[in-house]
Amino acid sequence: MDTIKKLKAGKTTGADLMHLAKLSDGMLQKIRDEMLEPFPRKVPPIISSSRLQEMCGIDKQRMGYVLKKGELPAGTQAKAGSPRQFTVEETIAWIRSERNPLPRNGPAKVIVVANFKGGVTKTTTSTLLAQGLSMRRGRRVLHIDLDPQGSASTLYGINPHAEVDSSQTVMPLIEAYLEGQPFDMTTLPVPTYWPNVDIIPSSTELFNAEFMLPARAASDGEVRFEQVLHDGLAQLKDTYDYIIVDTAPTLSYLTINAIFAADGVIVPVVPDMLSFASMVQFWHLFGDLINGMQAFDDGRAKEFDFVDVLVTRMTSKPAAQILQGWITQIYGSRVVPIEIPESDLARNTNMRFSTFYDLGPSDVGAETLRRIRTPVDQLVDRVDDKVCAIWAQEE
Ligand SMILES: Nc1ncnc2c1ncn2[C@@H]1O[C@H](COP(=O)(O)OP(=O)(O)OP(=O)(O)O)[C@@H](O)[C@H]1O
Ligand SMILES: [Mg+2]
Repeated sequence: MDTIKKLKAGKTTGADLMHLAKLSDGMLQKIRDEMLEPFPRKVPPIISSSRLQEMCGIDKQRMGYVLKKGELPAGTQAKAGSPRQFTVEETIAWIRSERNPLPRNGPAKVIVVANFKGGVTKTTTSTLLAQGLSMRRGRRVLHIDLDPQGSASTLYGINPHAEVDSSQTVMPLIEAYLEGQPFDMTTLPVPTYWPNVDIIPSSTELFNAEFMLPARAASDGEVRFEQVLHDGLAQLKDTYDYIIVDTAPTLSYLTINAIFAADGVIVPVVPDMLSFASMVQFWHLFGDLINGMQAFDDGRAKEFDFVDVLVTRMTSKPAAQILQGWITQIYGSRVVPIEIPESDLARNTNMRFSTFYDLGPSDVGAETLRRIRTPVDQLVDRVDDKVCAIWAQEE
């Protein structure tokens, strides 16, 4: 209080400043302690029988028939006659049997979520894709957190400050590459709380890659620094169906590596003027980057299976509608015909280190949940349908 009174009186002494410094120290220590605490372990959500039926594409009768046969998990019931509930693991067993997804044909597809603009839902989208492809299509997914901020890691309940050191991130791959040593990538993925989703987490030390890669490239013109991740991932493409990569909002060396490793790129964009303007810059940089890249070692030029624009945080505001019109006009068929709406729920769930897919009917009203989950479900299904079509072509 004394400090505030003196500041109000317009006199700030050296002693006041020392006092402020002391207060900041105390606060920083408190924040640091909190940052270093491991997060509470997460658990996957419970799936209702109606949601299970929707995901499997079956009706109540079919479900009753399958349950009678007794070959698939029966879930649990609070008491006889009450609705059944299923774990995500049980749901996946149903999906694999009833939906019967096309098996992966060829190596895993690498999907990178990128936009150099911050806060356009890259991390949210990449995590929903990983969770959704596992739950709705029974896929095996590896999620790679390439952002030193570690936001994707936090969505899996991992505290990147307290629980991850550089040896658990993609750093050892980069170090081995720079030393000209082989590296066993199969040592990096770790299981998450979500069935069939593994992660290679991030930590702040990933920032070091931004100094190491260019330093080596400058001293050795032959070094293909943009190919490190692409080459490393080759070892994992038989184990997984999808490798989903979350990137930082910068054109960093790690982001360049992600883009070079990508089969498909999803560019989330928020329909506001700033986002739209920075998209223009994104395409210039992205285009220059790919055109400037030397071909692969075997002479092939870099190509993508798809580069899609996803409109997210869509609102009914006139400005948003106008911008969405422009986006469609410019990017045409590259715009995913699904809008992810702006949702207060999203802000709140992320605050609790969760996504929409983590929530069950007991956490939030069924209708609120359905409104946001339906377009996300459609996005997941569309990605898998698209990739299945590509796998079929590659046969
Ligand atoms: N559909 C949505 N509606 C409203 N808010 C959302 C929605 N999806 C995500 N958000 C919120 O938007 C913010 C940014 O999301 P997110 O962290 O996924 O973006 P990002 O592009 O990864 O950010 P960064 O560039 O910092 O990595 C978060 O607070 C998140 O909770
Ligand atoms: Mg992010």
